[in-house]
Amino acid sequence: QLCDIGFIGLGVMGKNLVLNLADNGYTIAAFDLDHEKVKEAIAQDQLENKSDAQRVVGCFSYTELLSKLKAPHLIVLSVPAGDPVDQVSASLIGAGIQPDDIVIDTGNSLWVDTVAREEKYKNNFILFSSAVSGGEEGARFGPSLMPSGSPYAWTRIKPIWEAIAAKVDPKTGKPLERTQPGQVIEGGDPCAAYIGPAGAGHYVKMVHNGIEYADMQIICEAYHVLRSGLGLSTDEIADIFEKWNKGPLDSYLMEISVEVLRHKTEEVPLVDLILDKAGQKGTGLWTAVSSLEVGAPAPTIAQAVYARSISSFKSLREQASVALQGPAIKAYSEEEKTAFISDLHDAIYCAKICAYAQGFQLMKLAEKEHGWKLDFASIAKIWRAGCIIRAVFLQSITEAFERDDELENLILDEFFAKQLSDYQQPWRKAIANITLMGIPAGALSSSLSYYDSMRTAVLPANLLQGQRDFFGAHTFERVDKAKGKKYHVQWATQDREIVKI
Ligand code: 6PG
Repeated sequence: QLCDIGFIGLGVMGKNLVLNLADNGYTIAAFDLDHEKVKEAIAQDQLENKSDAQRVVGCFSYTELLSKLKAPHLIVLSVPAGDPVDQVSASLIGAGIQPDDIVIDTGNSLWVDTVAREEKYKNNFILFSSAVSGGEEGARFGPSLMPSGSPYAWTRIKPIWEAIAAKVDPKTGKPLERTQPGQVIEGGDPCAAYIGPAGAGHYVKMVHNGIEYADMQIICEAYHVLRSGLGLSTDEIADIFEKWNKGPLDSYLMEISVEVLRHKTEEVPLVDLILDKAGQKGTGLWTAVSSLEVGAPAPTIAQAVYARSISSFKSLREQASVALQGPAIKAYSEEEKTAFISDLHDAIYCAKICAYAQGFQLMKLAEKEHGWKLDFASIAKIWRAGCIIRAVFLQSITEAFERDDELENLILDEFFAKQLSDYQQPWRKAIANITLMGIPAGALSSSLSYYDSMRTAVLPANLLQGQRDFFGAHTFERVDKAKGKKYHVQWATQDREIVKI
């Protein structure tokens, strides 16, 4: 009996995707260079498989994998981004893969690499990409999937992807929970939608991760302020986050933060024992770089990347903590604490709106630059469940783009504009107090600066243009003259204006 799908790479994500596919009725030929992982995947499937039929067939070479698949072959890769994708591709070519076979890269590949790979392998096989978000649990019980590439390949992949993806209740926009092996959700909107041509899906996943960085950093800054500024215990902070998680801040990242904060090891909160040096694999950095390249302001996302970089300078920070002065620590009354916590909630909410606004505007500018046609309501929809940034809030973003699919920036949507206007005052108070506490909160405060920059009709770029013209004759336009006309002043003599067209 030949299998429906070939699977290469049985690490945590791979193994769980295999079990998810099996739950949805597909048979899988599974391969990993590490044969122990093949055996583990089979053992896990045998543990969970309630039927008599064999769902996962172990393979121990690329040739064996191809021989156990229905033709044309459909192969899913779950290998680290970068060279491993090319190494596996070369091995598949060596094993005899055919031009009408489809290979799906589910890793976090850099989007330009995906574009180049599709071209490079087009005579050998069809390279399709579909980033997966949701970590181990998402892979097992329903991830968010961002497929892109050949439309022909998508017609084959679509039913499979829609089956394994997370599902959302179409009426409420809330995730339909699937938590048990063997459980399958019938109906519901699947968190899998075709994004566009090669590279578009990986670009969208990259921006998802940039937003993920910002969202995580915003929560971490709130934790820092509550712990070091107000002196609250980890359990008290977990209680606050738990309460916040029932309102507009309801999100997976808030939920897991509560669990991390509550975790104790021998009575000690584990978070107090975790070294404060953040790792990163590159997707946040790529998002920040891309925002600079396409000229989309994304300061909250960039700040989140910088915050991780600064955290890595542990010994420098330790030296500076002794050498450099901060403000004296103030004692807060219970009343002041309560008011501050309420302001902080609103600050997080507004900063979060700005971070998402930045991510979506970035995708909008990238869309123009690369000639894609992205459906932003659909992107917001597939992020409502399954992925790491899943949140109640994504339903409001979906509705904003459904109201206006040409929306230039989320902060101009009627709902979000009202939210920002309503909560900007407590946001400012929170930032002012955090600044006086001397606690770093780059994501929370740069969002406020982004908000204020965006709502300022006249920025000091007039002086900046004057400075540029002074030292480099870079010219400027005038608000009182025809648009597009360039002017230059002989600054040394101040007596002549030269008009350039
Ligand atoms: C997801 C995550 C996933 C991965 C990040 C981690 O959507 O499931 O984003 O892709 O956990 O890439 O990134 P860092 O290691 O850079 O934090």
